[in-house]
Amino acid sequence: MKKILDIITAKMQQAFADAGYDSSFGRVTVSNRPDLCEYQCNGALSAAKQYKCAPIQIATAVAEKLDANDFSMVEAVMPGFINLKLSDGFLQKYLEEMRTSDAFGVEKIGAGKTIVVDYGGPNVAKPLHIGHLRSAIIGEALKRLYKFMGYNTIGDIHLGDWGLQMGLIITELQERKPELCYFDADYTGEYPAEPPFTLAELEEIYPAASAKKKEDEAFADRAHTATYELQQGRRGYRAIWQHIMKMSVADMTRIYDNLDVHFESWLGESDADPYIPAMVEDLKARGLAVPSEGAWVVPVAEDTDKKEVPPMILLKSDGSAIYATTDLATMVQRMQDFNPDKMLYLTDKRQSLHFEQVFRAARKAGIVAENTELEHVGFGTMNGKDGKPFKTREGGVMRLERLIAEMTDFVRAKVVENKIVSDDEVEATTAKIALAALKYGDLSNQPTKDYVFDMDRFAAFEGNTGPYILYTIVRIKSILSRYGAWEHLSIQAPANAQAKDLMLAITKFGPAMEMALANSAPNQICAYIYDLAGFVNKFYHETPILKEENEGVKAGHIALIGLAKDILEQCISLLGFSAPEKM
Ligand code: ARG
Repeated sequence: MKKILDIITAKMQQAFADAGYDSSFGRVTVSNRPDLCEYQCNGALSAAKQYKCAPIQIATAVAEKLDANDFSMVEAVMPGFINLKLSDGFLQKYLEEMRTSDAFGVEKIGAGKTIVVDYGGPNVAKPLHIGHLRSAIIGEALKRLYKFMGYNTIGDIHLGDWGLQMGLIITELQERKPELCYFDADYTGEYPAEPPFTLAELEEIYPAASAKKKEDEAFADRAHTATYELQQGRRGYRAIWQHIMKMSVADMTRIYDNLDVHFESWLGESDADPYIPAMVEDLKARGLAVPSEGAWVVPVAEDTDKKEVPPMILLKSDGSAIYATTDLATMVQRMQDFNPDKMLYLTDKRQSLHFEQVFRAARKAGIVAENTELEHVGFGTMNGKDGKPFKTREGGVMRLERLIAEMTDFVRAKVVENKIVSDDEVEATTAKIALAALKYGDLSNQPTKDYVFDMDRFAAFEGNTGPYILYTIVRIKSILSRYGAWEHLSIQAPANAQAKDLMLAITKFGPAMEMALANSAPNQICAYIYDLAGFVNKFYHETPILKEENEGVKAGHIALIGLAKDILEQCISLLGFSAPEKM
């Protein structure tokens, strides 16, 4: 569907032309004085300079040419503004078309395009902690938004499953259990199907090994060797690696499922490995990679740089590949597999320089097509109330699971206390409200900004919160179910001022989603639904909906709140949560 602004801009341009002026002056904008009008055109002010006459003269002439059926108010006001209000008929028709169109008539700007969204990015063998929360939930929301706008979307978790962290685990395990067949280089038999460690052990081994590396040089050397041998394909090490992967991935899947975060692709850094040798050779051969102090680097500085952009390190002096190498090789693989129009990455903003270097190297080397867009969304930190990165009460790193559990416990207590649902529904309802609280609390902030995790505020049923949005949806659902079948009812002309405000808010759905996508800003979806929910609630408070005696008028009220509910539900599904039946 065409956006309202485009429709009335076209009408305004025609009116300028009909009045004898250049149509390019007919640009309409959303009013910045909603108390006076809904839309406005300031074109007469600029036109006056060209036509050397008073702006009001042009505004008046143009206003007369506009079709009175489209507007309930057209006013030329001093010094030369044209103020507009949409007619009831126009709004009714527009909303009815939204109601009956696929995806409420949003323009599928991504049709025929493919995007890879690289998010999550956990490291195997390390428990998910709150540092992984934002990438997962912002990434999931953006991926869903892209999909809604018509893109073919591939969400790739890009596991940290390669490199020194693996060598450290193998080495530490060998110190603890040297007798295991995995460490016997001469062993040729089958390896056991059961892993030689439990998940709890695995999660303890990595930090222990990581600490040891810093103090014990010989241990660090052995870990480097183990890493190298793993990457060269040493059988026993590969078998351990497989165990680690299987166990870790199963655990991650469970936690991401709880967050309603789902990946289409579970590839990782290890999957980029096969692409590295040829890529490195090619970069060296074309002189794009150059030797530097024993290492190989790709210079990526540009004349226009305001601050120094150091070269991207391709290979370290010991010949090993690093994080940037795997990211570049992953691009080779993604171009081969999907030829995407865009690759979008979500990480902490401290990785901004890394992505700047990798993107530049990829462009320089022609690894991505010229029109393949590359974007990194670097997000801020989730802080505690003390303004420092969020910690457990004991001061440790907060596991993601524990954070979810604490939010769930907090919400459950409210659900039980307020006797919201029957006993057997407590868990399901709690899970939905807790997820909304957590995700909306995060997503309603601009991604680049740090924010304070505040359980009380996030889980409140009032204010700009997830539970408030759910509550609004649940309230409408309950009216609708008391009314009966409503899905077939058509939109009517606004019954009162609140209905009109609500209708205007509904028309802004498509533009709001387009803006959120263009700015990679799920917070703009939140801002939109918070507004919309406010208008729904005002309409509800001012209008006796079910008590309305005129059945025809009542049907109009119901159709309107039904459409508002569908749009609110569509929005929260883009944000990655859903509403319970009762609240
Ligand atoms: N595993 C990485 C980390 O923990 C994040 C991966 C992000 N994605 C990427 N393609 N580099 O920092």
